[in-house]
Amino acid sequence: MKLRVAVAVALVSILSLSSLIFAAEPVRITIATGAVGDELEKSREAAARYMETHPNVEITVLDTPDMVQDRLGLYLQFFETRSPEIDVYQIDVIWPGDLAEHFVDLYEYGAEEIAALHFSEIIENNTVDGRLVAIPWFTDAGLLYYRADLLEEYGLEPPKTWDELEAAALKIQEGEREKGNEDFWGYVWQGNAYEGLTCNALEWFASNGGGTVIDSDGVISIFNPNALEILEKAASWVGTISPPGVIGFAEEDARNMFQGGNAAFMRNWPYAYALGQSKDSVIAGKFDVSPLPAGASGAGAATLGGWQLAVSKYSPHPEIAADVALFMASYDEQKIRAIEASYNPTIMSLYSDQEVLEAVPFFGSLYDVFINAVARPSTISAPQYNEVSTLFFNAVHNVLTGKDKAANALEELELDLHDLTGLPIK
Ligand code: GLC
Repeated sequence: MKLRVAVAVALVSILSLSSLIFAAEPVRITIATGAVGDELEKSREAAARYMETHPNVEITVLDTPDMVQDRLGLYLQFFETRSPEIDVYQIDVIWPGDLAEHFVDLYEYGAEEIAALHFSEIIENNTVDGRLVAIPWFTDAGLLYYRADLLEEYGLEPPKTWDELEAAALKIQEGEREKGNEDFWGYVWQGNAYEGLTCNALEWFASNGGGTVIDSDGVISIFNPNALEILEKAASWVGTISPPGVIGFAEEDARNMFQGGNAAFMRNWPYAYALGQSKDSVIAGKFDVSPLPAGASGAGAATLGGWQLAVSKYSPHPEIAADVALFMASYDEQKIRAIEASYNPTIMSLYSDQEVLEAVPFFGSLYDVFINAVARPSTISAPQYNEVSTLFFNAVHNVLTGKDKAANALEELELDLHDLTGLPIK
């Protein structure tokens, strides 16, 4: 009897000791995020703020490739093995439909209360079969960055049409080269064969009345005269107002050139604003942003971009992972990111926050651009969007590089998209 008691006492103390040890052991959460511009640093700072109030959680912020298709490839490797290594994924606005099966429903982890604070279109985009597979983190829209100082010097206004952009880009380029800057170019953008080109080209087509590749009613409409016209125009920029290397450019290549003072105009996302205005930037105080130029449609178009946080179904700690994701996408955190790094909030009320507007005035003046941004055909083509986009940007890239003629590329693209998706052709 005595022995039994002694064994029981020993067991209890071992158990309580081990529970103490386990309590002291922090829960490890890994977040896969982007590293474009100062994204990684901002995510690490947010993680540090979470850890300050949650000493039992240790967050590792993992950087992932800049280019969307490379990042997707990496994520797919983790999903294929149902890897528990990554708990939270930063996912593109185009991915919820393709990747939904790998994520938990955030409505089951407290997102119900805060969903209504966000733009309803993004919540809808992130809702697959009634499940909220990702919480919106920041939204994006393509913008035209311009050197206000140079426009003034050359007596020009910010261009409202692609024709005006071409003329202004050429004039400034010639003038700056005459002044001795041989490396100066008129217009930089994203022309590499990847998702960024899909975004740029969609803007060209939509602004010229050329549709959105696959329209929202599920009809493939890319082979049309307006699309053809603007694609030929864009191809003519390569080597004239845009550097020949633009066909290999992603966001950061364009930003480096513009921020280095070597381009008059740039197409980029809002994140480039805060970096361009930073202390060490040679263009700080010298540039501004406007909507992208219009073509035949009479209005410019901005592609809707943006990133969300999703919790992996294979995470060993979905509750804590969800808490971290909701914290990072919370009002306070979105406000910090907006002010410090010009990331567009997805929480609507932040667009009337005075501190935010003071730091990033165009969040107010270009509000319409953000709410009217044109979506890529990701919902309509899910779960094949990535293949759709790949066919699209390869076709466009072949025209930019001169490998194919625009008419041929678009006609074949239309057939390829039909073969892939089975959707009807207009
Ligand atoms: C930005 C956008 C994203 C888009 C990507 C393309 O990160 O937010 O939606 O897919 O650029 O490069």
